Amino acid sequence: MVANKKTGFITLEGIDGSGKSSIVGMLASALRKANVSVELTQEPTKTWLGDAVRRGYKEDISPYSEAFLFLADRATHTDWIKKKIADGNLVISDRYSDSTIAYQAALLHQKLGGECAEYLDYLTGVSKQIILEPDLTILFDVDPEISLKRLGNRTELEKFETLENLRLVRQNYLDIAKDNDRICIIDSTASLDTVRASTFEIIGKRLVVPL
Ligand code: TYD
Repeated sequence: MVANKKTGFITLEGIDGSGKSSIVGMLASALRKANVSVELTQEPTKTWLGDAVRRGYKEDISPYSEAFLFLADRATHTDWIKKKIADGNLVISDRYSDSTIAYQAALLHQKLGGECAEYLDYLTGVSKQIILEPDLTILFDVDPEISLKRLGNRTELEKFETLENLRLVRQNYLDIAKDNDRICIIDSTASLDTVRASTFEIIGKRLVVPL
C-alpha cells in the first residue's frame, strides 16, 4: 500500500451471484463517511470499449477474440485508474484482471480443450503490461450451486452462468489466490450482513480507517 493509506487500488472479484455487487455500494458510502475519496468503477467499463466487450459477449466469436476484447477494455481502464490514484483517490473496481484470467481460462478450456492451468499462465503473462497490480483484492467465494440459486431470481441467465462453467471459474479464482498474497478470500455463503462486516473489516484495516 502507498504511504497515504487512503489512496490505492482495491479490486472485488468472484463468480456471478457471489454478492460482490451488493456490497460495493455500501462500501462506497461507508468509505465516504470516513472521509475517503473513493472512485467506484467496474469492468466491463461503461465506455465504447466496454460496449464492444458486451457486444462480443453476446455473439459467437472466438474465445481468443473475446479474451482480447476484455484486455483491450482493461488497458485503457488501467490508464484511467492510475490517473485517479495519482489525484489522491482510492479506486475500487468491481472486477478487474483476475476476472479475465479466471473466466477466459475456463472458456478457452471448454471451447478448445487443453489445461486450464496453461491458459491461466498465458493470460497472466499477456496481462502483465496492461494492468496495475491491486493493493488488495477481495475474492467473494461461494459454491456455484448457491450463486446460481441467487441468480435464479433473474429472468435470463447469461453465457457464463452455468454450473459447469462457474465451477471451473471458481477453481481458477482459488488457484490464482494461492499464488497471490494480495487476495483475501471471504466466504460469501454467509448472510449479506456477515459478508459486509468481513469486507469492511479487511478494507478498514488496510486503510487504517474504521468503517
Ligand atoms: P458483470 O457485469 O460484472 O456481471 P455481474 O454483475 O453478473 O457480476 O460481468 C459480466 C460478465 O462478464 C460476468 O459473467 C463475468 C464476465 N467477465 C469475464 O468473463 N471476463 C472479464 O474480464 C470480466 C471483467 C468479466
